[in-house]
Amino acid sequence: SLQQHIPQGLKSPPGPRGYPILGNVLELRKDTHLALTNLSQKYGDVMEVRIGTRPVLVLSGLDTIKQALVKQGDDFMGRPDLHSFQYISNGQSLAFSPDSGEVWKARRKLAQNALKTFSIAPSPTSSSTCLLEEHVSKEADYLVTKFLQLMDEKKSFDPYRYLVVSVANVICAMCFGKRYDHNDQELLNIVNVSEQFGNVAASGNPADFIPVLQYLPSRAMTLFKDFNMRFLHFLQKIVKEHYETFHESNIRDITDSLIEQCLDKKVETNIATQIPKEKIVNLVNDLFGAGFDTVTTGLSWSLMYLVTYPNIQKKIQEELDQTIGWERRPRLSDRGTLPYTEAFILEMFRHSSFLPFTIPHSTTRDTVLNGYYIPKDRCVFVNQWQVNHDEKLWKDPLTFNPERFLSAEGTEVNKVAGEKVLIFGLGKRKCIGEPIARWQVFLFLSTLLQQLEFSVCDGKKVDMTPLYGLTLKHKRCEHFQVKQRFPTKSTN
Ligand code: HEM
Repeated sequence: SLQQHIPQGLKSPPGPRGYPILGNVLELRKDTHLALTNLSQKYGDVMEVRIGTRPVLVLSGLDTIKQALVKQGDDFMGRPDLHSFQYISNGQSLAFSPDSGEVWKARRKLAQNALKTFSIAPSPTSSSTCLLEEHVSKEADYLVTKFLQLMDEKKSFDPYRYLVVSVANVICAMCFGKRYDHNDQELLNIVNVSEQFGNVAASGNPADFIPVLQYLPSRAMTLFKDFNMRFLHFLQKIVKEHYETFHESNIRDITDSLIEQCLDKKVETNIATQIPKEKIVNLVNDLFGAGFDTVTTGLSWSLMYLVTYPNIQKKIQEELDQTIGWERRPRLSDRGTLPYTEAFILEMFRHSSFLPFTIPHSTTRDTVLNGYYIPKDRCVFVNQWQVNHDEKLWKDPLTFNPERFLSAEGTEVNKVAGEKVLIFGLGKRKCIGEPIARWQVFLFLSTLLQQLEFSVCDGKKVDMTPLYGLTLKHKRCEHFQVKQRFPTKSTN
């Protein structure tokens, strides 16, 4: 019946035949990114699968994805109205709610501005280049101390559990002017179990597409709802404290600056006032939520690669020693002078592709892509993992090799190659935290590696098999060890 509505001369995207009622759900349930990458080799960059009875458009290939998300950005900037998304931030999330109109646009701009002011804008009050540098340097130093202390006490440890608190502290400092102890149970109950979120928010979760599943008991769904409640409660308490101590003359952090946006006198000048107040202040939920899990996952994969490839770790450390030395800590301004380190980070993003899909998109109107007709409100998966492992773009894509991003002499990062890595999305829905995330990963890693050498206990191997979810995780590993690199800690 759908066929009848397709304008003459156009066809629907091709795709695998599915079973009645189930569609392709059985082949897509496990490692959805790999299953869809395989299918795209047969059916092409613009392909349609069915999850249950619902059609989903799947985009692959960098050029096709650019065409859709950038050149036809308005057509593809929507978000689908998925069952699980209504539990995220009370259904008001900037990133996950179905809104893509004027309110979304104004909120996105507000979030972007507030984020910038309290992270990478030059800081009038800090001796560092910017607040982000100050926060990350401090947290990375705590982390070094913590890892060494854990070695003393236990001889080995799971770094994820500590990384996640340090990264959360950076975004907490910017959003709330607050930091937490590594043993703070309330914070750990959220940040240390983010897979309770990612397992359900993953692209292709059957319950989002097969309504009958929403009525069956599901442990994953219970954990997900519970996680979102704890998350909301945690943040609401902090926002309430901010309202109680708010003073216009002293805007302390992102929450304060969002509260300021709600003040009445801004009515004339600020389009944002057409947005309900709660929808301004609760933008911190999105910033905090997006800000801790992604960066932690990236850093954690980095440590996994470093212990798997000790020679690569050594090369980064030699570069740090030569360029920065031992007398001072790395700074953000060093980033341009450490090409091998930068190449390692790019290769970590590419090879792990730990955000295998963007958040799902949807079409805002009927449109045509590569000659295929696509109706309004079609759910769209963008396969970033496929781009990062496309043999047309990368030589030996399964090999971990930072040097693929270096110029022939090894003295410079190859910009063109770097821009082919797709992990922050593209176009109107592109990640607003991208610059902050890249700076953070750089400064955490360079600070840790200047001072510490990472390894795993003799005879142990790390398991690099990715576990599918909104972000690809690795199995936790308890067997990490560190050695201090310098006889005496430099003072700076
Ligand atoms: C959206 C990646 C860190 C804030 C996204 C999207 C991706 C992404 C793939 C979805 C794009 C789309 O739907 O097309 C990443 C990665 C990060 C990271 C890989 C770390 C390495 C951050 C940080 C923040 C942040 C640190 C903020 C502090 C957001 C927000 C959105 C978003 C608010 C929703 C944008 C919208 O829907 O309009 N990110 N992100 N992200 N990200 Fe990030």
